[in-house]
Amino acid sequence: MPLILLGSNSYRGELAPLDESGVEYTHLASLTVAASEAPVRAFVKVYPRAYVGGQTARGLVNELVGYFCAERAGLPVPPTAGLISLQHAQLSTPPAWLDPGQPVIGWWSQDAGFPSIRATWNLQALPQGSAALIHAMAQAREFLIKHCSTPSIVALDDLIANVDRNLGNLLHSPGSLTLIDHGRSLTGPAWRRPDLVAGNAFMNVVRDLLGPAAETLPFRGAVMAEYTTIVSKVSPAMPELKQLLDHLLDPLDSRAAHDFLHGRSAPGSIARRIGVVA
Ligand SMILES: Nc1ncnc2c1ncn2[C@@H]1O[C@H](COP(=O)(O)OP(=O)(O)OP(=O)(O)O)[C@@H](O)[C@H]1O
Ligand SMILES: [Mg+2]
Repeated sequence: MPLILLGSNSYRGELAPLDESGVEYTHLASLTVAASEAPVRAFVKVYPRAYVGGQTARGLVNELVGYFCAERAGLPVPPTAGLISLQHAQLSTPPAWLDPGQPVIGWWSQDAGFPSIRATWNLQALPQGSAALIHAMAQAREFLIKHCSTPSIVALDDLIANVDRNLGNLLHSPGSLTLIDHGRSLTGPAWRRPDLVAGNAFMNVVRDLLGPAAETLPFRGAVMAEYTTIVSKVSPAMPELKQLLDHLLDPLDSRAAHDFLHGRSAPGSIARRIGVVA
């Protein structure tokens, strides 16, 4: 499903508040995605344009890159997603950093209807350091070690340099894991061009969570195989992604983001990072 650009008249209003949410103004809303169809429930995220200190916030473009690459790779993502223009007055509790005089562009993704792994194992509610949390984390880790989708998730996150695949960003869907929240891909939320060095290794949360299980040769081989499959599907779509980037970024940043992904798509690119001979 292609990314969909919605105007502010598609925003029908805010629904229930979220149990889990990060720093962005993430909320559940009702959206009209197609005039002929019933409204959909969607998670809408409003990123600031810049962080305190003036760094350009990259969350919106990162979301777009992550969804685009995952969807083209054939990995499970929410059925529809895209950008939406919003007016300040449409938000019930607009964050202080939002300029009341300016419309803002948000990221939205249709509610996939599944809880995250974090919610499934109730990780957010268990006290830090408690035996219950340690036990639940061990169970979630074991689930991921055994899940057939895990190598593809590690591979995708390596390709797009997503440094935030925390367990709230994987939805526990029957037989698969649905990927959401790519706001920290392309190395992080406030990347600058010098950060986008295609050959570099970046944090990979799922791989780190698996620990020694991710170091075995069969696992690394499976990641490598998934990476090859993913880049074979994403590479032909790179010109289309570049066009999207050109709408959101200045020309030098757009070129840098494109070249970063293009460079990481080269045969054998991941092999050097995970220590497998291509
Ligand atoms: N499309 C979706 N379908 C189902 N659930 C979703 C979807 N998008 C977000 N959620 C739920 O909302 C939570 C917060 O969304 P998301 O991770 O995108 O925002 P966030 O504010 O960046 O969170 P965090 O900073 O904690 O990672 C997710 O953990 C998940 O439970
Ligand atoms: Mg998240």
